[in-house]
Amino acid sequence: LHVLVLAGGLSYERDVSLRSGRRVLDALRAVGVDAELRDADVALLPALTADPPDAVVIALHGATGEDGSLRGVLDLWDVPYVGCDARSSRLAWDKPSAKAVLREAGIPTPDWVALPHDRFSELGAVAVLDRIVDRLGLPLMVKPAQGGSGLGAAVVREAASLPAAMVGCFAYDQTALVERYVPGMDVAVSVLDLGKGPQALPPVEIVPRNGVYDYAARYTAGRTTWHAPARLDAATTARVTEVALAAHTALGLRDVSRVDLIVDAGGDPHVLEVNVSPGMTETSLLPLAIQAAGLDFGRVLGTLVTRAAA
Ligand code: DAL
Ligand code: MG
Repeated sequence: LHVLVLAGGLSYERDVSLRSGRRVLDALRAVGVDAELRDADVALLPALTADPPDAVVIALHGATGEDGSLRGVLDLWDVPYVGCDARSSRLAWDKPSAKAVLREAGIPTPDWVALPHDRFSELGAVAVLDRIVDRLGLPLMVKPAQGGSGLGAAVVREAASLPAAMVGCFAYDQTALVERYVPGMDVAVSVLDLGKGPQALPPVEIVPRNGVYDYAARYTAGRTTWHAPARLDAATTARVTEVALAAHTALGLRDVSRVDLIVDAGGDPHVLEVNVSPGMTETSLLPLAIQAAGLDFGRVLGTLVTRAAA
């Protein structure tokens, strides 16, 4: 079995992706899979046609890896890959679209407004932002409609901080997602299908040392503490798991995903987003969840590539 691990690319999450890719490569090789790492660059397509791999692992984060575009190309080339298909990736990657599907399916997700940059400028920023605060209240969460790793995201606790948060967000995307901020426990539930249908792994609780799970907290050793499984009672764990599986299914996802949620003080889960290319770095959540489930990361990847290649 010859496996190509794609990592890097030209997204804002290039560095994260390279770290994910190296870890995936090492884990596959550790279980005897013939794997090779390569960047997603202009030479990729000729390489795929000249020497098609048996399966691809997409360790690319950000636009090309998660928005379905690369997956669509792999589909056209008939190259099998691990993970969600092009259509469902495109849907999950666009947070406002994904949230609309989740809400339609009865899955709880915080109230939101999607604000394109051109509307923001034309209508007069202050009036638009005032209306958003009136509608959603405070605090708010501002994040790029399409993005990851906390880049361009900010918690807004007072109306006066909203304009700066919007500007920071528009540096990463043309559309901002402004969401009601739900206080509570940050939890990630990874969903894995090893051949018996999607199964939720133990929820992982995220405790960033300075209270904010930003880029530095995600990728600097020692900045975040995890509890895997999360410190939730059995009933809440069951509810969180059920909601995560429902989100994975509602978005039509395949093989592997990671559902990020807030569990509020009453134990109710609120889905923030679903990731089709979850981080695989030394400080990422999916590998932690796999470990907490008593599984081996390399063996899980081995099963996924074997299934993809079959
Ligand atoms: N966007 C990062 C890689 C994650 O979701 O883990
Ligand atoms: Mg994400």
